[in-house]
Amino acid sequence: DPELIAEGEGVFRKCSACHQVGDGARNRSGPTLNRVLGHPAGAVDGFRYSPALIEAAEGGLVWTEDELAAFLAAPKEYLPKTKMTFRGLASDDEIDAVIAYLRSVGE
Ligand code: HEM
Repeated sequence: DPELIAEGEGVFRKCSACHQVGDGARNRSGPTLNRVLGHPAGAVDGFRYSPALIEAAEGGLVWTEDELAAFLAAPKEYLPKTKMTFRGLASDDEIDAVIAYLRSVGE
């Protein structure tokens, strides 16, 4: 849905202080998010994840839509010791939109 993707691109401004996507994306304070949907957590080369995220990844965490939605709603509740210092997205609409956007940049 192109409209939802466009809305999600707007929501992604809240993420882009820390995350890049697209051609030439680099790790910043957060990892690049190309092809995050449907892929294992903690897998971006060269990014230094928190022990909490590494543990979740070793436990088999995959960023399905449901897992990502739960994480983005409340990062510190989902993964208490994550180093993602982001309070979370307030609405399900924003979450759905940013997930649609992330899917559009690679699955
Ligand atoms: C990790 C998404 C906002 C900093 C992650 C991961 C995702 C994600 C999917 C896990 C990546 C992986 O497993 O490879 C998002 C989205 C955001 C957002 C969609 C906006 C809605 C932010 C902001 C910051 C940030 C604003 C910085 C203040 C980080 C850091 C990690 C991370 C440091 C690594 C976490 C750890 O190792 O515990 N983010 N993020 N993120 N993000 Fe974000």
